[in-house]
Amino acid sequence: MRSLFLLDFTKVMCYNYKCRSLKGMNNMTENKRTKNITALLTETVSAAFESCGYDPSLGTVLVSDRPDICQFQCNGAFGGAKLYHKSPAIIAQEVADKLKEDKRFAKVEAVKPAFINITLTDEFLAEQCRAIAKDEHLGVVQAEKPSSIVIDYGGPNVAKALHIGHLRSAIIGEALKRLARACGHKVIGDAHLGDWGMPMGLVIAYLSQMHPDWKCFSDDFDPEKDVIPDLDTAQLNEIYPAASKLSKEDSDEGRAFKEKAHDMTLMLQSHKKGIYDLWKKIVGISVGDVKRIFSQLNVDFDFWYGESDADEYIPQLLDVLTSKGLMHESMGAMVVDVAQEDDKAPMPPVMIKKTDGSVLYDTTDLATLIQREKDFKPDNVWYVADKRQTLHFEQCFRCAKLAGIMRDETQLEYMGFGTMNGADGKPYKTRDGGVMQLQMLLDTAFDAAKARMQADKFDTLQELDDTARKIAIASIKFGDLINHRSKDYIFDLDKFLSADGKTGVYLLYMVTRICSVLRKLGIDDEGEIELGEIYTDSERELMLNILLTDETFRHAFTERAPNYVCENAYQLAVLFSKFYQENHIMNESDEKKKSAWINLCRLVKRMLIKHLDVLAIDTVEKM
Ligand code: ARG
Repeated sequence: MRSLFLLDFTKVMCYNYKCRSLKGMNNMTENKRTKNITALLTETVSAAFESCGYDPSLGTVLVSDRPDICQFQCNGAFGGAKLYHKSPAIIAQEVADKLKEDKRFAKVEAVKPAFINITLTDEFLAEQCRAIAKDEHLGVVQAEKPSSIVIDYGGPNVAKALHIGHLRSAIIGEALKRLARACGHKVIGDAHLGDWGMPMGLVIAYLSQMHPDWKCFSDDFDPEKDVIPDLDTAQLNEIYPAASKLSKEDSDEGRAFKEKAHDMTLMLQSHKKGIYDLWKKIVGISVGDVKRIFSQLNVDFDFWYGESDADEYIPQLLDVLTSKGLMHESMGAMVVDVAQEDDKAPMPPVMIKKTDGSVLYDTTDLATLIQREKDFKPDNVWYVADKRQTLHFEQCFRCAKLAGIMRDETQLEYMGFGTMNGADGKPYKTRDGGVMQLQMLLDTAFDAAKARMQADKFDTLQELDDTARKIAIASIKFGDLINHRSKDYIFDLDKFLSADGKTGVYLLYMVTRICSVLRKLGIDDEGEIELGEIYTDSERELMLNILLTDETFRHAFTERAPNYVCENAYQLAVLFSKFYQENHIMNESDEKKKSAWINLCRLVKRMLIKHLDVLAIDTVEKM
């Protein structure tokens, strides 16, 4: 029975434990790492437990929570004490004594009450980092059984200007997608455009009032010969807010308009010609704009499906819900009850169809799951959307499971995120209190980044602009991603653009410093990295960070939280800066030392770029 102290992600590895000799770690220098350091150490420590007569599953090794004392720790003696009714300190001492025979450990100690503390020798640490430098994934162990994951993020609403509300979904989702890929999973990104609901009806209704003469609004519209007049994003951006405002007005005009918008929504959803053609035109214009803005943020999707693509699955959804007896009428609408006895908060039914027969947000989300199951058979579906949508997703997930749309083993997961606030702690607004458009935010950051740059460092204006753009994007993205996604944060451009502290700019700067060292030394950075020995404390710290990259990525993946990748990138940059200050690479006369240091610089550069790539942040050569 292995049931003790398997509380973290090393659990899985511990179950795969096979008894090996203490020397069993020599396969670590292979080109592709199949185990991370804690898993490798767990094998060794488990074997030590076993050879002392204890259950090997007690040997789980963790990264030390006291890095000032040791690098790794095992807390298994506490569990052993319960199992064998023996003093934990004695067990820890026995196991530590056994481990002391191992030449790869510089120090093994049993410390009170019963921790086993482990520190690697510099030789072993450097050997591990050499293997990481040669590994195509830089030490990030690829999932043994990759999951197939559909990630639904971005979620911009067509015909509304892309505003900062969609910034977080896009950048957190992109990072989560890349993180899962970096860990070896198969991931499909889908934008799930909001293109089929009432907002579309509002825009179309407004256009019909502005241009009653347009052919598309008349019953004899002929898609073969009648054209839809041209529209542009600027017009669309003005129409939606005006339409939305009018529909909320408590006046006859407001009510009549809202009615009309409902009618238009229904007409659209019934593919009425003219209305449907106008909608297609609006979608085309709007999606082009969304793509352009998202590409500035390095956000891209495998599928740009919208709610409207779920339309063809709605009949099937209705069939399933009806045949399983799940759907019933409630005040003219069709709903599914999803409340459970143990619910602590009210759980309203899912609305499938409104009284007028139109479908809603819940309906398209459920129908989309039918499409995803049919096309992708995913193991997981992840949704990255505003925290305020918690209830919606809980309702949908319950309904999907009740209806058997998804297999039982498919995990539907909602990753809510907090709000981006202004300095006043309230949702970020424009100066005049309006919702800020995303393009405006990006432009503001670009101008601010450019103003801080030294123009004469760049050969062309183009180069200056490209660099300023990358710095602006890095600062916005890192400023967001460094916070746990579930938290609100304050958008503070000055802080984000600072070259000090936990900022994207600091990280880009560190990469440019390494580039500049390599340039000055005339180093070709293409070939294999040949790490040398460890000479100083700062190299040891740096290499330990590199050795733990897999644990960072794994933790971030398990928690669905890219902020751990940000944090580690920052730590790595800080350690590099210390190493660089303490060791004078340029004028080092010992060639062996110099070469070791240069190669370490090269590895750090690749590592930093790998972290930034997961965050979808581009680096620059100079700044
Ligand atoms: N379009 C939605 C909004 O702006 C977000 C979509 C989230 N994804 C989903 N499958 N519902 O609120």
